[in-house]
Amino acid sequence: MRPHVIVNCAMTADGKIAGKARKQVRISSPEDLDRVRRLRTESDAILVGVNTIIADDPHLTVRGLDRDRNPLRVVLDSNGRTPERAKVLDDRARTLVATCEGCARTWEGAEVVRMGRDRVDLHALMRELETRGVRRLMVEGGGETIWSFFNEGLVDEYLVFVGSMVLGGRTSPSPVDGEGFEEGRCVNLGLAESQVLGSGILLRYEVLRDVPPA
Ligand SMILES: NC(=O)c1ccc[n+]([C@@H]2O[C@H](COP(=O)([O-])OP(=O)(O)OC[C@H]3O[C@@H](n4cnc5c(N)ncnc54)[C@H](OP(=O)(O)O)[C@@H]3O)[C@@H](O)[C@H]2O)c1
Repeated sequence: MRPHVIVNCAMTADGKIAGKARKQVRISSPEDLDRVRRLRTESDAILVGVNTIIADDPHLTVRGLDRDRNPLRVVLDSNGRTPERAKVLDDRARTLVATCEGCARTWEGAEVVRMGRDRVDLHALMRELETRGVRRLMVEGGGETIWSFFNEGLVDEYLVFVGSMVLGGRTSPSPVDGEGFEEGRCVNLGLAESQVLGSGILLRYEVLRDVPPA
């Protein structure tokens, strides 16, 4: 069975996940950061797109967990743009860089898998993760990556923390960017939980699969 996919992100009250400079902005409350830490701990793997690696340089680890207990870090990187010194390549956890078939690049500190011609083939990647024993996959962003997971029908849960701030900017990224669905198509969600977490609110949705498009 493919991994259970949980998308998790933090957006502002005006629906942005970063500002117009596309750099990380602290949107989560301390209470939400604790929740994210717990969710990471309960996940077998954490996945982001390469633009997030370049923009934010995250470790994608849980502090206090040793290398073997930290979730596997997975980067979608078709053309090998992950910088040599990216923190995701450190020895705090294992890392898998998923590239396309034509990409020859390798990294010290990461295992490389190749799948897909133009973009990393997410269905092939799910099969690869399944064989590695990944049952729960947490997708942390950014907007292009989350779009691809929704577009391929691979999202089971969508968790979004809404922080009490406004960033504005017509080019600022949102939780789901990409091309967007054609008119008449959408992903229907069922609101499963809402919870105030400090200064913001967490919304947890389950993806409804058998509902005809709105
Ligand atoms: N607030 C939050 O919760 C949060 C969390 C994470 C990130 N962010 C923000 O999100 C922004 C980055 O998001 P982004 O949308 O620009 O990029 P992204 O989702 O981080 O990375 C997208 C890139 O991944 C590569 N990729 C390879 N295979 C792919 C596939 N099948 N589907 C999608 N992408 C694939 C593509 O680059 P190649 O074609 O070169 O491979 C693509 O451009 C930053 O501003 C960051 O701060 C916010």
